[in-house]
Amino acid sequence: MAIDRLAARAQLETRLGTDRDDLDLLDRFDRYGEDLFVALEAVYDPSIITRLLDIMASAHTARDAALHQRDRDRVLAPDWFQRPSTIGYVCYTDQFAKNLKGVAKRIPYLESLGVTYLHLMPILQPRPGANDGGYAVADYRNLREDLGTMSDLRATAERLHESGISLTLDLVLNHVALEHEWAVKARAGDPAYRDYFYVFDDREKPDQFEQSLPEVFPDFAPGNFTWNDDLRGWVWTTFNDYQWDVNWSNPAVFCEYADIIANLANHGVDCLRLDAIAFIWKRLGTTSQNEPEVHDITQALRTFARILCPSLIFKAEAIVGPAQVGAYLGEGEHAGKVSDLAYHNSLMVQIWSMIASGDARLFERALSRFGALPTTTGWGVYLRCHDDIGWAIDDGDAAAVGLNGHLHRMFLADYFTGVFPGSDARGVDFQIDPASGERRTSGSAASLAGIERALASKKAPAIDLAVARYLCAYSMVFGFGGIPLLYMGDEIGMLNDESYLADPAKADDNRWIHRPSMKWPAAERARDTPAPNASAATVVQHRIRAGIDGLVAARRSLEALHASVSTRVRATGIPGVVVFDRQHPAGHLVQVYNVTDSPKWIDTRDLGGLDGDVVDHITGHRFDIGAGMPLGPFEVRWLTRA
Ligand code: GLC
Repeated sequence: MAIDRLAARAQLETRLGTDRDDLDLLDRFDRYGEDLFVALEAVYDPSIITRLLDIMASAHTARDAALHQRDRDRVLAPDWFQRPSTIGYVCYTDQFAKNLKGVAKRIPYLESLGVTYLHLMPILQPRPGANDGGYAVADYRNLREDLGTMSDLRATAERLHESGISLTLDLVLNHVALEHEWAVKARAGDPAYRDYFYVFDDREKPDQFEQSLPEVFPDFAPGNFTWNDDLRGWVWTTFNDYQWDVNWSNPAVFCEYADIIANLANHGVDCLRLDAIAFIWKRLGTTSQNEPEVHDITQALRTFARILCPSLIFKAEAIVGPAQVGAYLGEGEHAGKVSDLAYHNSLMVQIWSMIASGDARLFERALSRFGALPTTTGWGVYLRCHDDIGWAIDDGDAAAVGLNGHLHRMFLADYFTGVFPGSDARGVDFQIDPASGERRTSGSAASLAGIERALASKKAPAIDLAVARYLCAYSMVFGFGGIPLLYMGDEIGMLNDESYLADPAKADDNRWIHRPSMKWPAAERARDTPAPNASAATVVQHRIRAGIDGLVAARRSLEALHASVSTRVRATGIPGVVVFDRQHPAGHLVQVYNVTDSPKWIDTRDLGGLDGDVVDHITGHRFDIGAGMPLGPFEVRWLTRA
């Protein structure tokens, strides 16, 4: 059965007046409605549309004038997040500035870094006690009390907007906390709410599903189902036992989230990070990730938002393989109609892998798997985030360059925990797979890059090398194209922090080792030239901050970093040198990276046609490239024709 288009339009029209905002909404409905209908019809009964349009009309009426204007502005400038001037910053509100009012006070600091895109990690009301860093939401309509109120959220968004900074929040939509109202009602025996979750009376179905389901937290949350006495059943819990997966095949669930999205948008949120989006559709006999319905549902939600609040965009957190991730930015019928941004997990993993091995061939091979993106989308590019790193090296890619995938993953886990001979890294093992022995890794970017150990050694050459390694890796984040996401504290190279061990709600999850509080005195000092008697740590912080500032400035000056065009990656004749080639309408940009600790030479033939007089946008130097150029350890060049 199909949705009755004319009836739907008539329903919306009767709820609207004739002022400018109303006519705009109707105009967008006429323009994008079909994308909504088609996506809804792929998953739900047509009757869903009535409730959804009700939600849309109410939220539209509640939307304030400033946000209606923001919608108009962004309809005219839909590439606002793709521009080279977009610089992202990601932090926990409490660790960064205590609360939302504190964030507003720190805007000058963000401005000094050139930040235009701020992601505040989970701030909605979580469950008490252990809550997976806020990813176990108990109430989507209130904030964590110590962070502020919903009106503080609106006020903070306004302050950020005045400073040219957009606001991203998490939308955790695969699961809720078992304390969430829906789960409470389900536990009390309300059948309508029991249907909001996947609940099984006995182990028959769960056992069948388990055959093909991977485990996310095998150490502290083994299995994908949890027995609940109140439900007298097994409830689906992909992550921790207190995070209940919601049932997206239920249209009531879809409408709940549409309403939550509308409410967050009406508080000034510009981008929603769709947490664990790959998991929202379950299918027996599969891993229950990346199922086609995920993309239909995302298209329906995205189009709902595009009509209601076009200044809002979506960012997919889909930590999936190269073959699957493209679909989150839209492939085929979904192209440009799902998320606007997606995390480039493979790039992150491959940067660390390349740095560890000093060889670009696997990097080139893995990155060659990524086709061009829809031109209206972009990658979220990052070196570190609040999560562990899963060493997602594809066996086929490894084999193609003469490596064994399993052994390379083991090497990376060894290298980044400092076990491998010669490694300066100081990560820690996270979630060990008993069958294969493979482990994921926690640790701050600086500690993984060897800065912590180098500082402890007090040896200047080791410190120099670690800082160069760190900045080389971050240069790739700023140079790849897409939004560079600076993880809080990385602008000064903050190190691992073990203070989480004192908090029982955190102690068993070592991802907290890289989620420390901001070291404000150090961050504030880092912009100034250190005094002659300054400590080595202070000097390092200053050098990193200066390096990041340089990357921000170079990036902003290069139109060729606009995200609408993809980067091509090439290994060169020398294994330790990699080239990022951006054949861009705004000009040809060639980036060269020496990913090793020894000097190298790059031949002009490896520069994709760049020759003669060139400018290096990192140093500002202009020179004739001749037959090629030398590169110091971890040296980076961003070159265009002069
Ligand atoms: C995402 C978050 C992670 C969390 C998980 C479950 O992957 O980044 O921190 O544990 O989702 O919500």
